[in-house]
Amino acid sequence: MRKPIIAGNWKMNKTISEGVDFVKQIKHLGDNTDVEVVVCVPFVSLESIKKELKGSNVKLGSQNIHWEENGAYTGEISPLMLKEIGIDYAIIGHSERRQYFAETDETVNKKVKTSLDHGINPIVCVGETLEERENNTAKEKVKVQITKALEGISEKEMSDIVLAYEPIWAIGTGKTASSEDANEMIAFIRDIVKEKYDEEISETVRIQYGGSVKPQNVTEIMNQPDIDGALVGGASLKKDDFTELVRF
Ligand code: G3P
Repeated sequence: MRKPIIAGNWKMNKTISEGVDFVKQIKHLGDNTDVEVVVCVPFVSLESIKKELKGSNVKLGSQNIHWEENGAYTGEISPLMLKEIGIDYAIIGHSERRQYFAETDETVNKKVKTSLDHGINPIVCVGETLEERENNTAKEKVKVQITKALEGISEKEMSDIVLAYEPIWAIGTGKTASSEDANEMIAFIRDIVKEKYDEEISETVRIQYGGSVKPQNVTEIMNQPDIDGALVGGASLKKDDFTELVRF
């Protein structure tokens, strides 16, 4: 049985004080539940929110990580810096990083390795564009992304990785993939993992769906056999919505 995981990706939202105030209101959500609850917050808020989460079962993640420990990478954040704060997860390869900040399958793979090397669990994002969905190349695209992201990753390391299928056309649009379509792609991803590793690993790895997950559709999504969780943007910014999502 895979432990469900609901992760909020705040993206570029909430100042430090707003983030701390919000976490004060939701930090109990990790209690008395078998659902793993994660908040992935802007870098500037990590330390303050880590302090606020002391004693809470809610886990903390970043939204990116650099693959080098230090160097001439203006504006970037080192895995050493994140490890010192004590975060649990790092979102890697989000489509917005790929679209706006030149993230590639190759840099995603480097980041997965450095994240694991520093004891930070990667949440690795893949997903197709609307054009790829419409011209029936979505699976081909996702297979390349998954294969390249996991290059050189050992069987043992797979136990620390969460995969996230986020169809780009569903992100922030209110157009959620049908739960059947989402489940079909996630089952396909599981098959890729099975081919690369083995059945046990493919059945153990947790795979989230992301893309306009809301309280109104979370139960249907989470009832799908191959979907283990959700990576949530907009709805993770509102206390009542995030509470409903976690209690799907
Ligand atoms: O990483 C999750 C995010 O891309 C989904 O955003 O607003 O469609 O839930 P949203």
